[in-house]
Amino acid sequence: MPKKTTISVIKCDVGSLAGHHIVPKPLLEIAEKRLEKAQKQGIINSHYVFHAGDDLELLIVHEKGEGDPKIHKIAWDTFQEAANKAMSLKLYGAGQDLLKTAFSGNIRGMGPGVAEMEIEERRSDPIVVFAADKTSGSAFNFPMFRIFADPMNTAGLVIDPNMAGGFKFEVLDVMKNEKVVLKCPEETYELIALIGTTERYLISRIMRAKDNIICAANSTTKLTLIAGKYVGKDDPVSIVRAQHGLPAVGEILAPFMHSYFVEGWMRGSHWGPLMPVGLKDSKCTVFDGPPRMVALGFQICNGGITSDDEGTPLISDLFDDPAFDMARREAMESAATLRRMGEFEPARLSAETMEYTTLPQVLKKLQRRFKPA
Ligand code: F6R
Ligand code: MG
Ligand code: MG
Repeated sequence: MPKKTTISVIKCDVGSLAGHHIVPKPLLEIAEKRLEKAQKQGIINSHYVFHAGDDLELLIVHEKGEGDPKIHKIAWDTFQEAANKAMSLKLYGAGQDLLKTAFSGNIRGMGPGVAEMEIEERRSDPIVVFAADKTSGSAFNFPMFRIFADPMNTAGLVIDPNMAGGFKFEVLDVMKNEKVVLKCPEETYELIALIGTTERYLISRIMRAKDNIICAANSTTKLTLIAGKYVGKDDPVSIVRAQHGLPAVGEILAPFMHSYFVEGWMRGSHWGPLMPVGLKDSKCTVFDGPPRMVALGFQICNGGITSDDEGTPLISDLFDDPAFDMARREAMESAATLRRMGEFEPARLSAETMEYTTLPQVLKKLQRRFKPA
């Protein structure tokens, strides 16, 4: 059996500073210490701790496969300790995403978001990890379609014979908890028919059609469906594999040259323009937003992340680039247009989606006052 490497990105809102804004240093330090220890013990090979707005993000590379109880337990314990610290510091929303108490082997379904991908290392394996705040898993529907199915975005679909067979998309119906696999280019229209409904269908995985190798893995947590009520947005993460018969890093980033609308933003109840940002701007401010996304680029090397001589992983902050200034400006222009509409649709999400927010509690008060017209 060839050796396999697993990339796990596990994230959780454990509490934040100045409302739902950023993960402060003491919490990042707890995560760093825990993952450093796991690395010294040889359980994991590499790690990188960062934050997407108010979400603590753990990037872990190891050889234990997807859904490994040991890896998930490390993440769970890290989030618990960070949440306890957040509580002692009276940070906002301390422990917000930790919806279950007893860990039973897998962190999925307990609140934190998970994207995992097990790969057989190629001669060289470039990876892009995306992490967003104040939006949901469906924020990846549009860019993933462009990257893996749109020949106007990804030149390789036209030019590279290794991509000619197209890609397969696993789509999750979050309401029914069912999934379906659609193959592009043959089923492009059917795929759009589904994933265009971003409030219900999420792309969970993408495979190259000719050999089924995994190319993208997205988190698909629906916090409201776990908790039964609104507890915050399902701020998503994604792992995408690049180059040599897969979309190039530049093709993976090309959809972010322009802003596009995603659900989330203030109180998880509004359409907002997605803003690609570097790590230094990974914080939501205006109207708790606009929804922001960071992108990290790195190489996989012998079961870990390519590192320097001191063992520090070499990570590139991909959206920290003037090339995305136009998208950021567009995002703010769209933000201003939408905010002028206040609480009127389409600035606010559809009534159906608002069912999962705190709005029904407000409307309930009026119920008895309605008379036949
Ligand atoms: C969105 C989010 C925030 C909060 C908002 C109100 O995902 O977390 O926009 O919904 O700041 O928060 P509370 O109700 O905690 O005052
Ligand atoms: Mg929060
Ligand atoms: Mg968040």
